[in-house]
Amino acid sequence: MSKVSCKVRSNGRTFELAVGETILHAAMAQGVELDHACGGVCACSTCHVKIAVGKECFSEPSEDELDQLDEARDVGLDSRLGCQAKLLRAPAGGTVEITIPSWNVNAVREGH
Ligand code: FES
Repeated sequence: MSKVSCKVRSNGRTFELAVGETILHAAMAQGVELDHACGGVCACSTCHVKIAVGKECFSEPSEDELDQLDEARDVGLDSRLGCQAKLLRAPAGGTVEITIPSWNVNAVREGH
């Protein structure tokens, strides 16, 4: 399984992301904090991330994901839900970069 490096610009962390894996799954497995109030079933927007580098290497957002992103703050063209954005192929440079917003619509943070 091909893996790429995922740099988190907002906190300086880096984790490995495998082709076929979501950002949330990989981050959780490697101890990188990313809120996920609904448990990763596309029913909130607390896993909102912005993909700064390598966006084209991820799955296209579904209508459900776009509906949930409508509820998030500060949404941009690079916004995705971490639980839905699945890496489909490795980028040419071997690295993708994301930003995790310092706030989200979930007022109660999970204890992780
Ligand atoms: S964790 Fe709820 S939409 Fe991703």
